Amino acid sequence: MTAPAAELAGVSLSLRGNPVLEDVSLRIEAHDYLAVLGPNGGGKTSLLKILLGLLSPDRGSVRILGRPARRAHGQVGYVPQHVRFDLAFPIRVMDVVLMGRLGAARFGRIGAQDRAAAEAVLERVEIQGLAQRPIGALSGGQLQRVLIARALAQRPKLLLLDEPTASLDERIGRSVWELFEELSEEMAVVVVSHDVGAISRYVRSVACLNRRLHAHPSKELTPEILEATYGGPVDLLAHGHPHRVLEPHEDS
Ligand SMILES: Nc1ncnc2c1ncn2[C@@H]1O[C@H](COP(=O)(O)OP(=O)(O)OP(=O)(O)O)[C@@H](O)[C@H]1O
Ligand SMILES: [Mg+2]
Repeated sequence: MTAPAAELAGVSLSLRGNPVLEDVSLRIEAHDYLAVLGPNGGGKTSLLKILLGLLSPDRGSVRILGRPARRAHGQVGYVPQHVRFDLAFPIRVMDVVLMGRLGAARFGRIGAQDRAAAEAVLERVEIQGLAQRPIGALSGGQLQRVLIARALAQRPKLLLLDEPTASLDERIGRSVWELFEELSEEMAVVVVSHDVGAISRYVRSVACLNRRLHAHPSKELTPEILEATYGGPVDLLAHGHPHRVLEPHEDS
């Protein structure tokens, strides 16, 4: 049997003395397509950093692909919330995607195989025509795809994306959600997003995080769940998609 992509049990984390995560337990199966939603400061990015092995919890256990988080690092792809490179820096799309191959490259050298792998992922995210384009000359949606391609280039078994559709228009955003769905046939996909409409439409399960986490086996999101998570009413008709409203959350 394949190990789950991730298994967190009783995870608590404080940063500078402030509690960020409390008693979080979560199991992510090999082909899950999971959305994590919750208010600003609710701990979503911190949770991803724990899954990446960049932060260690104060309490609780973390297993990634059946191993300690640090040892699985090379198999976890990450698209961060804020990109920290200088867009004026003269680097091309292909070079950014090849960065994703550095961990896998033999002796840290990029070879023909790595280039072929990078070309394949550019094709996968449908921007093969942009390989030689400087990154400063891309639209927001194109840049987002480049970052997804970089994460895919390392052939992850677990793909973590932190608000990847925040700057995308409706049409491009939709195609990215569909791409994640396809990718979840090959890997576990975890998407942090505030887009309730897209979540109810595309993902297979939802976890609500506001320091504590409530996982939902399906994408059931009721007004009660959302209010309990965000601490106030949330527009259920975000992006105009009507929403399935099912059983209320048992804790709320
Ligand atoms: N390096 C850090 N040092 C101290 N506190 C931090 C650090 N990083 C995050 N925090 C705090 O931890 C809490 C959770 O932050 P986190 O970035 O995980 O939230 P988030 O859910 O991703 O929020 P957003 O929706 O705004 O991206 C916040 O209160 C934040 O101020
Ligand atoms: Mg965040």
